[in-house]
Amino acid sequence: STDPLVIFTPSGKRGRFPVGTPVLTAARQLGVDLDSVCGGRGICSKCQITPSYGEFSKHNVTVADDALSEWNSVEQRYDDIRGLKKGRRLGCQATVQKDVVIDVPAESQVHKQVVRKRAEAREIVKNPSTRLYYVEVAEPDMHDPSGDLERLIAALRKDWDLPALEADLSVLQTLQTALRKGAWKVSVAVHLGDTTFSPRIIQIWPGLYEGTLYGLAVDLGSTTIAGHLCDLRTGEVVASSGIMNPQIRFGEDLMSRVSYGMMNASGSTEMTAAVREGMNALFTQIASEAQIDPALIVDAVFVCNPVMHHLFLGIDAYELGQAPFALATSDSLSLRASELGLQLHSAARVYILPCIAGHVGADAAAVALSEAPGKSDDLMLVVDVGTNAEIILGNREKVLACSSPTGPAFEGAQISSGQRAAPGAIEHVAIDPVTKLPKFQVIGSDLWSDEEGFDAAIAQTGVTGICGSGIIEVVAEMRMAGIVDAPGLIGTAEQTGSPNCFTDGRTNSYLLYDGTADGGPKITVTNTDIRQIQMAKAALYSGARLLMDKFGVDHVDRVVLAGAFGAHISPKHAMVLGMIPDAPLDKVTSAGNAAGTGARIALLNVDARAEIEETVRQIHKIETAIEPRFQEHFVNASAIPNAVEPFPILNS
Ligand code: FES
Repeated sequence: STDPLVIFTPSGKRGRFPVGTPVLTAARQLGVDLDSVCGGRGICSKCQITPSYGEFSKHNVTVADDALSEWNSVEQRYDDIRGLKKGRRLGCQATVQKDVVIDVPAESQVHKQVVRKRAEAREIVKNPSTRLYYVEVAEPDMHDPSGDLERLIAALRKDWDLPALEADLSVLQTLQTALRKGAWKVSVAVHLGDTTFSPRIIQIWPGLYEGTLYGLAVDLGSTTIAGHLCDLRTGEVVASSGIMNPQIRFGEDLMSRVSYGMMNASGSTEMTAAVREGMNALFTQIASEAQIDPALIVDAVFVCNPVMHHLFLGIDAYELGQAPFALATSDSLSLRASELGLQLHSAARVYILPCIAGHVGADAAAVALSEAPGKSDDLMLVVDVGTNAEIILGNREKVLACSSPTGPAFEGAQISSGQRAAPGAIEHVAIDPVTKLPKFQVIGSDLWSDEEGFDAAIAQTGVTGICGSGIIEVVAEMRMAGIVDAPGLIGTAEQTGSPNCFTDGRTNSYLLYDGTADGGPKITVTNTDIRQIQMAKAALYSGARLLMDKFGVDHVDRVVLAGAFGAHISPKHAMVLGMIPDAPLDKVTSAGNAAGTGARIALLNVDARAEIEETVRQIHKIETAIEPRFQEHFVNASAIPNAVEPFPILNS
C-alpha cells in the first residue's frame, strides 16, 4: 500500500510519508517553512499547525493508549501547562496517519511575509539575522578533553545544521554556569551573520528561553531620528518613536554642521557624541514604550545621509563639504553597537546600508530597497525630498541616481512665514479663481478657514505659519489664479484683481492670513518667498530631468514621492509648480517613509542586505555639479512650471 499523502498549505508543497511521520519532519523534508526552536522536543510551541483534513495521531491519549505515537503525551503535557489554541497541534508531535492537509499559520512561518500598508509596495519576507536555538549538549568527560563551547557548537551543528560558529567573550563568560544550571539543556541566540561578518553565538540561557529578541530599524535624519522596534521572530513593529536630532544645535542644515566641524577643533567629536547620546535616549524611550529591556535588542539597521553617516561614526565630514565629495567608505558596514557607544545588547550588531555616492546616502539606498525601481517594468522616478533631494530613476533595464541641492525651503526654512510642520502651520491652501481670496487648513484641524467652527477648532495653537507642503500649495494656487506669473513675479492688486495683493517695497506680496487683530501673526507670501521656492523646485526638477536625459527618455511612467514631506505634498500642486516631471496624476504616489521601510526590510531579512549591496553597485551615479545640462535645465525650470517644457498631461 502507498504511504499517506501530505499536503501543506499555503505553500502547496506535498509528498508521501510513512504512517507515524511527525508533521515537522515531513515539513522539513519538503522544505516547508515551519518554525522550531526546540528541535522537535515539544517544549517551544513554535511549530504549531492546523490540521485541515485527514487523520492525525490523537490529541487526548496517553502513550499506552496510542501505539502509533509516543509523542502525544508530550503534547498533552504542553497543553495542560500552557494550553494549545483550539484546533492547533504541535507539528513535532502530531503524526501523519492517513492522507492529510496541513495548514501552517502565519506565526509558525519563519519566512512569513510581513503585511505592509500599501498594496503596491513590495512585501517584506522575513529572514532575521538572529535566531534562537534550543539544544542538549553532551556532558564533559574525562576521556574527551573538549571544552564546553566546542561541545555546544557540535550540538548546534548536529541538530540545526549551522555553519561554523564563533562565540562572543560575554558568552564564554556565562557559558559554564548556563550549561550546568540548565542541566546541559540551553537556549542560544545565534547571529547568523550577514555579508560582512561571520555567524556567532551572542547569548546563552539555561533551559528554554521563551522571551523574544528584538531589532531596531533606525532612520537617522539630519532633523529627526526615528526608530522602529521589531520583534525579530514575528517581524511586527512593537513600538516606534522619534526625537529631534540633537545635532541641530550645531547647525540646522548639513552644510552648517560640516562647517561647524571645520571651524571648531572638537566640533566633529561633539557632534558625534550628541547624535549617539540622542540615539541612546531614543532607544530607552522605545524600549520603555514596548516595556522591554534594551538589552534584548540584538540587531539594528541604520540608514542615513552621507554627512550623518560620517558624523555618527565619528568620521570627520570635511571631505563631504567640497568637491569631489569623497566618502571615507561607501560600502555597507557591520559594527558592534558597543563600539558606537550604543546601549543595546552587549553583543548587538549595527548594520549600515551602503551609500550610493558622496551626495546620495544609505537613506537613498534604503529607498531603492523599499521601492525597488530596478524590479519595475514601468519607468519609475523616486524622489526623496529633504534639504537635498535624492532622485532615483529606473526600471528593470537600469537605475540612475543623483542628488540635487534643493535647500531647506521645502521644509519651511528661509520662507518669511515658514515653519516646520507642526500644529498651527498652514498645510493646505485654495485660492478662489474669481474672488482671488485664499482659504486654508492648518495642521491639527480638518476644517477650512472659511468654515464654521474653524476658530474654535484651532484655538489651542492659532495660525502660526506655513509649512513646506503649505508653501508649495500656496505658490501653485497663486500661479493658477494668475496672482503670480510664469517668471515668478507677484502682480499688484490692480493687475491681478486680488484685494490681497499689496505692494511691499519694490515688489508685491500676497496676504494669506491676518491675525493681528487678535494678537496673532500676519502671514504673507513675499516675492522673495516665491524666488526661494522657484530655486528649490528648479533644483529638484533639473536633477530629475538630467536623469531622464541620461536614460534617453522625455517622460516617466510613475513618480513616487518618498519621505515625510512626500507624504504630505499634493501631487497636483507639485506638478503645477513644475517640481516634478509631467505624469498622469494618478501615477504620482507617496511612499511614506520609504527609507525607514528599507531599514526595516534589511533588519528583518538578512538576504536583503546582500541584495541592496548588489543593487547599489549597479546604480549609475550622476554628479549634477559637473553636468553642463544641469544648469540649462535649472534656468528653464525656474519658471512656473517651466520655460520650455509643455507639461501636456497637466494641461490636458
Ligand atoms: Fe518545539 Fe515542536 S518544535 S514544540
